[in-house]
Amino acid sequence: MITIKSKKEIEKMREASRIVALAHEEVSKAIRVGVTTKELDDIVEKVFKDNGANPSCKGYPKGSRNPFPAASCISVNDEVIHGIPSSRKLQDGDIVCVDLVCDKNGYFGDATRCYVVGNGSKVAEKLVRVAEESFYAGLKKAKPGNRISDISSAIQECVERNGFSVVREFQGHGIGTEMHEDPGVPNYGKPGRGPRLEAGMTIAVEPMINEGTYHVDELDDGWTIVTADGGLSAHYENTIVITETGAEILTKLD
Ligand code: MF3
Ligand code: CO
Repeated sequence: MITIKSKKEIEKMREASRIVALAHEEVSKAIRVGVTTKELDDIVEKVFKDNGANPSCKGYPKGSRNPFPAASCISVNDEVIHGIPSSRKLQDGDIVCVDLVCDKNGYFGDATRCYVVGNGSKVAEKLVRVAEESFYAGLKKAKPGNRISDISSAIQECVERNGFSVVREFQGHGIGTEMHEDPGVPNYGKPGRGPRLEAGMTIAVEPMINEGTYHVDELDDGWTIVTADGGLSAHYENTIVITETGAEILTKLD
């Protein structure tokens, strides 16, 4: 079921989303050769706690035998999503994607930022840039009257025009009082399909794009998703709200 959020609910999502953006700003200052992904995770957890927000990924899903163990998902190079923070030190030229979700007063915000550490290859720089560009290509289609797959197809067109591939097995999602709500927001597909967008819908749009094949595998840790061919991957995400005239990004600082 897709829920339309009231003005009050959107204000609560704006607050959770602002805290996610704040955590991204703090993490971005710490990204350098030699920092461990656990050190980045500690920064995230502190920003969330200091702002009265809950690290939603930690312990997710509730009751699972293998819940996610950290505040943030940090995915390096061939890791697509759901990388687990560890003692791994970032190296010159690594791609590092930081995916953050927090909840406060019952409402969630979710965003991903991706960086090249130090001096990266041309293709690493381009992949990170196209992940972000494809989000904005999708965002242009996010307005009342359009359908979900208008966003999807715009993302796919941007990614493939640049010679990269779109991950099929994972997608964006509605968000609000839960981290994952309806509708699913695929990053590929024909336009004109799926639910119609309406003012007050809140969704996380999150292209995951690969240098080579779009096929992915899961590691034995039960979380980390990697490219099947070992090629590079990048991810970019914002929580957005559909407005009367288009859409607004919630996961940003004013
Ligand atoms: N940000 C991710 C998403 O949109 C969720 C992380 S999975 C978790 O789906 F288990 F770590 F929470
Ligand atoms: Co998400």
